[in-house]
Amino acid sequence: MTIKTKITEILGIKHPIIAAPMGPFYTTELTIAVSNAGGLGVLSHIGLAEKDPVEEMKKDMLHVVEHTDKPFGFNIRTSRMEPYASVLCHDIPKFIMENPKLKEQCMYALTSAGSAKTLPSSSTFQKLKEESEIKHFHVAPALWLAEKCVSAGVDGLVVTGGEGGGHQSYEMVSTLVLLQQVQQKYPDFPIVACGGFATGEGLAAALALGAGAVAMGSRFIASKESEFHETYKNVVPPAHAQDTTMATGVFGPIRLWKNKYAIEHVMIGSKEEKLAQESTLSADDIIETMRAYELAYKGNIDDGAVLLGQSIGLIDDIESVSNIIEKTVKDAEAALKRATDLII
Ligand SMILES: Cc1cc2nc3c(=O)[nH]c(=O)nc-3n(C[C@H](O)[C@H](O)[C@H](O)COP(=O)(O)O)c2cc1C
Repeated sequence: MTIKTKITEILGIKHPIIAAPMGPFYTTELTIAVSNAGGLGVLSHIGLAEKDPVEEMKKDMLHVVEHTDKPFGFNIRTSRMEPYASVLCHDIPKFIMENPKLKEQCMYALTSAGSAKTLPSSSTFQKLKEESEIKHFHVAPALWLAEKCVSAGVDGLVVTGGEGGGHQSYEMVSTLVLLQQVQQKYPDFPIVACGGFATGEGLAAALALGAGAVAMGSRFIASKESEFHETYKNVVPPAHAQDTTMATGVFGPIRLWKNKYAIEHVMIGSKEEKLAQESTLSADDIIETMRAYELAYKGNIDDGAVLLGQSIGLIDDIESVSNIIEKTVKDAEAALKRATDLII
């Protein structure tokens, strides 16, 4: 059996499961594994020291199409604090257009953490859209932001609630409430549910709430194929849902596993105070935070910033991506059947 939704149809994938982007880190092998297993793998916006995000994205894309003939996607963080956002929005669509395999397989351009208009206003992306099946989705962490995305002309929304790992917004609305808000306002719009998903029961709930797929981050960190350091992966299985906290990140709030770093950077103060603080950030502050991400990625889970979501409380193994996807779909089918059996 398979679960067919509007999202599986427009993206050309078998299962309604998408890998959430996890920059500034590499998720290249993860992308290949998720796409090969029938989900949609998504390349992350690289932001590691001495790496050019444009060149890394191009290299990653070529590597992906060499190892899978299935659809995949990519993420660009369009925050005004991202120096490469506009260049990525211009150069990557052009790069895709010039390579027939990329043009056929790259189905999903996901922007986040900034304006939903940056990508559609790029002339190369407009051309790519005319000539391919690529769809543009943007991350919406609040209803008013979903409204902005829809007016920017996106093809779909990634509705991400406050329980999710990594980059967050100041809104902190739960996925459960946000999904209902967005679904009520845009009942026919393609929606991916994100933040807190790691099980088949979660996928079933998202589908019942009108989403056409879930995107999972923390679940895929704890997979055999993910590029995260073993020490980082090993944090996940024993962790509890309450072991994360919100901290002040360089591009806004972030949800972190509660370690020494998170406790020292725990988020305090109002949204206004934090936004004022952000506007005074220096280049050194940005480098310092990026260093904390990189430390964790390389295995120093005490001093580094370990980005993870509350869904870690649902994950108790490090599994292969194909087993994760197979089990999630099987359990979702069972949960959906149990739910429909309640109707007499
Ligand atoms: C390690 C890590 C890095 C992340 N980096 C990004 C990013 O670069 N861009 C983005 O839009 N979201 C980013 N996120 C958020 C995820 O895309 C997604 O919203 C989140 O993982 C969902 O929650 P979950 O972990 O419970 O599945 C990141 C999350 C994690 C855990």
